[in-house]
Amino acid sequence: MASLLVALVLAAASIKKGKASPTSDLRSCIQLEVPVSVDTTTTKWLQPRVDSNIDAVDWVTYMTTWTSPADRMLGDITVKQTFKINGQLCVPPKGAKSDILQLATHGVGFDKRYWDAEIKRKDYSYVEAVLAEGYSIFTYDRLGTGASDKPDAYDIVQTNIQVEILRQLTSLARSGKLVSSSKKLGGTSNNTLRNYNPSKIVHVGHSLGSVITLGMLAAYGAESDGAIATGFLYTDKLANVNVGTWGFEFARENDPLRFRDRGSGYIVQATKSNTQVSFLKKGSFEPALLDYAWKIRQPNTVSEFLSIQTALGQAAPNFKAPLQFVIGEFDYGFCAGDCKGTYDLTVIKGLFPGVPEADLDIYLQPGTGHGLTLSTNATAGYKVTFDFLDRTGL
Ligand SMILES: *[C@@H]1O[C@H](CO)[C@@H](O)[C@H](O)[C@H]1NC(C)=O
Ligand SMILES: *[C@@H]1O[C@H](CO)[C@@H](O)[C@H](O)[C@H]1NC(C)=O
Repeated sequence: MASLLVALVLAAASIKKGKASPTSDLRSCIQLEVPVSVDTTTTKWLQPRVDSNIDAVDWVTYMTTWTSPADRMLGDITVKQTFKINGQLCVPPKGAKSDILQLATHGVGFDKRYWDAEIKRKDYSYVEAVLAEGYSIFTYDRLGTGASDKPDAYDIVQTNIQVEILRQLTSLARSGKLVSSSKKLGGTSNNTLRNYNPSKIVHVGHSLGSVITLGMLAAYGAESDGAIATGFLYTDKLANVNVGTWGFEFARENDPLRFRDRGSGYIVQATKSNTQVSFLKKGSFEPALLDYAWKIRQPNTVSEFLSIQTALGQAAPNFKAPLQFVIGEFDYGFCAGDCKGTYDLTVIKGLFPGVPEADLDIYLQPGTGHGLTLSTNATAGYKVTFDFLDRTGL
């Protein structure tokens, strides 16, 4: 509690004034289809198939019934495959920190637009704020979402495949070959972007994207120069991340036209009110943003949920860079509705022994729910992160 207050006071005291830059000047972006090869193992899970709304509810009840088997791992599956990942690289012209790349992984319920709301961009878009601050940023659709490949929901689209993809994207970016090894789908023809070669890479995640980011730090910690995990925190309420609260339906039955390319095992929140429960807290969102969140909603796979446990709670001894956690004060999933007093800094430090004491920060964004980029006062929250990065040399 004391550390939280200190963090709040320090952060509030150090917010810098935003730089005023016209939106159009900042957009120097290129859209890419990146081929990403993975060679890893996933898990065969014991779970019912989902081919209808009735199956989706049955899957939820199976997952949450206390007498269902606790150990659902049936064995390993070898996966050696190349996936097409849809992404966007933006490098701000004259950006003061454009050699630092933020690599952002979104969570459940969205695609990369989570980072770049198309309405009231100046008030909500994280991409816009990052570019205004002078950083470069790469956002991408997680495997199974948006315009990326949508392979098997049971055996392929699992958390550790997502970790491998993030790692490969990191390597590609660091080698300066992200653009040259991809198919260009649109955007600027500026050669500076084509040969972009960052000197540092900061990993940013939201929710499941933070779980994936932390999974990468655990497996390949030396390959990151810093990490911002948003919409996630190790709390004593993690058991409340309960699939029963999401209101899932079978994606293709929920919207046969929109989700016609999602097969068996792809599930989506059924109603706009389900989206509100998971992402927004009354008093800290505009109704138009709830409408927008609902409009851009994306399905996820059943096995992504099951496999979260393979990435959670692992120590990241080789990660020796700054790490900040940012979570909405009233995050419903990860804090059971109120994050205050739900976490233990010592426990979190124990998972990241290589992070210097002064470079580990936990910040609760006041009044806000789980969907930080869709909540009012979002940009003031971003400033807390930019200040942290600045303070730690990033
Ligand atoms: C190309 O992009 C870089 C980085 O965004 C910028 O600094 C440069 O001015 C651009 N060049 C042209 C010709 O637009
Ligand atoms: C907005 O966010 C900033 C940064 O977290 C915080 O200091 C401020 O108190 C917030 N304002 C409100 C009204 O919650």
